[in-house]
Amino acid sequence: MLGVCYYPEHWPEQDWETDAQAMAGLGLSCVRIGEFAWSRFEPRPGELDFAWFDRAIATLACAGLKVVIGTPTATPPRWLVDKLPDVLPVDPASGRIRGFGSRRHYDFSSESYCAEALRITEALARRYGCNPHVVGWQTDNELCCHDTALSASPAARDAFRAWCARQYQSIERLNRAWGNVFWSMEYGSFDEIELPFGAVCETNPAHQLAFRRFTSDQVVRFNRVQVEAIRRHARGQFVTHNFIPPQSTGIDNDALAQSLDFASYDSYPLGFTDRMMRARSADAARPFMRTGDPDLTTFHLDQIRGLSRAPFWIMEQQPGPVNWAPHNPRPAPGMVRFWTLQAFAHGAGCVSYFRWRQAPFAQEQMHAGLLRPDRSKADAWAEIEQVRAELDTLRLADQPRAPAPAAIIVDVEALWLNQIEQQGAGYDYEAVLFQWYRVLRRLGVDADFVMPGADLAPYRMVLAPCLAMPDDAAVAALAKTSGLVVIGPRSGAKTKNFTLPDTLPPGLLQQLLPVRVLSVETLRPDCPEPLHWHDWIFASHSWREALEVRHGDIIARYADGSAAVVRHGSFLYLASLTDDAFLHGLFAALCDEAAIATVELDPMLRLQRRGQLIFAFNFADQPRTAPAQPGVRFVLGGPLIEAHGVSVWSAA
Ligand code: GAL
Repeated sequence: MLGVCYYPEHWPEQDWETDAQAMAGLGLSCVRIGEFAWSRFEPRPGELDFAWFDRAIATLACAGLKVVIGTPTATPPRWLVDKLPDVLPVDPASGRIRGFGSRRHYDFSSESYCAEALRITEALARRYGCNPHVVGWQTDNELCCHDTALSASPAARDAFRAWCARQYQSIERLNRAWGNVFWSMEYGSFDEIELPFGAVCETNPAHQLAFRRFTSDQVVRFNRVQVEAIRRHARGQFVTHNFIPPQSTGIDNDALAQSLDFASYDSYPLGFTDRMMRARSADAARPFMRTGDPDLTTFHLDQIRGLSRAPFWIMEQQPGPVNWAPHNPRPAPGMVRFWTLQAFAHGAGCVSYFRWRQAPFAQEQMHAGLLRPDRSKADAWAEIEQVRAELDTLRLADQPRAPAPAAIIVDVEALWLNQIEQQGAGYDYEAVLFQWYRVLRRLGVDADFVMPGADLAPYRMVLAPCLAMPDDAAVAALAKTSGLVVIGPRSGAKTKNFTLPDTLPPGLLQQLLPVRVLSVETLRPDCPEPLHWHDWIFASHSWREALEVRHGDIIARYADGSAAVVRHGSFLYLASLTDDAFLHGLFAALCDEAAIATVELDPMLRLQRRGQLIFAFNFADQPRTAPAQPGVRFVLGGPLIEAHGVSVWSAA
């Protein structure tokens, strides 16, 4: 299914019908509307006006389109902010109020805002919950985008104090758990606790971690209240939310996704690649400037799939140049079709383009749409026509995804640990997670992302690039798996209260791997040291642990001969970050042992399986040979994959 994001409030009403007909003519079936329209739903306090929205929905429905309503809570109108000033969040870095004039100017801890958000959501749900043309709902828009999870407002402080009181019961317990005897940080009561900002130097990491957990709970609660309000009125309509790249939310995405029917994602391959490639040389960046990095988009898609209990949606798909990255190139011809097929190959149920028509006004006037501001068809149009027809051929509804052979454990506590305690500027959890994923994908292996504690039974190999503070459930899930398990450095580094484990790291993971981390050193990433494995020399860099090995085999060593990688039964522990080449060799050998097929992929190709179909994506601007067995049946393309093209064949 294909769709589009539309803003009827941006256009004269007489254009709506023409737009709706053209959407249907293009083969789109659903349209998301409403998510920023609060100032039109309620121009003055309490004066609700849904008549125009009724007509917009009716016009779209008349063309056979289904509607997804976005709740408008990412953009509280001016009057609301004036009436309830505590709605505005406070920037933790500067201590300044983040004011009206763009979006996401609200504080998750503002009780008055939560009540307002509930009120407008409930009003919409009451009105459209039984509308047969409305198939579903999107809560808010991109929660936490623009760094809006954390706020240093008085509302956040008061709610945090109450949260601490609930968590720790007595101030003595909190003092003990956080180690507040250090630097005389002890509190006499919960009311003395400030937010962990604005102190002279670093605040207690346990305090910071508690504030992250609290913030995550606040976002989850804010979303859940909306979901519940919608469900009270909705009949047979789904509720979803459009996530940003998962590590950018800074919150527990899995907890957020729990109340949704499925997760959605806003996919901007070039914008995110441009940001990621900032430090790359021109020669390294140029090949992907118009295609996106071959693994970055799917790194996000695969994580979103892991959050979703049903096929996820792309709620917003980049259709041309965007306006918000440092540089905003045009996609190479064919890439909109390519990204669409890529999303479906990775398990999407719908791809919806952002946006229908480029707005000639306001902040996003340089952002492409499917139509230009003058209504002429933009470059993506013909590609969508093409992919629409191809989806009919592929019949993806008959190709449900099976679990991938390998799982990667993604851990928000590892992200928090890394953000709170840097220790080495070369350690970046998201980069480590991406490196392990990328190396596996270069071997042609599909991966599912799972949370700590998830059932690992379907997987023959499990990678945990960092499991920061695993609890008993996470350790038990690992203990139960029959697959090979690779655990990365800095795992088991802390307790849940951000202290070192009594038994030293990797803490509870010592039940699986009888090793102790005796000390940690961090190095500049450009000052690696040798890592010896078999007769080869690889690089150990940035984060290096000295291990005591009680049982198990040392399978790779530092230059001084001490243990860098240890194996005990089916568990491996990597005590250091390494170069790609080492991970490539290690993962290939382990896949072999686990009977997971690998292939030495051309660096510009990627594979993905959905049901019986194998998709091959060519990121190169030249044709490439498909890594298919001779004689396979191609359902799309052929054995020579076009430049920026896609071939699909049947595995059966
Ligand atoms: C998304 C957002 C949209 C629009 C788009 C531009 O992050 O949800 O409203 O701003 O980016 O690329």
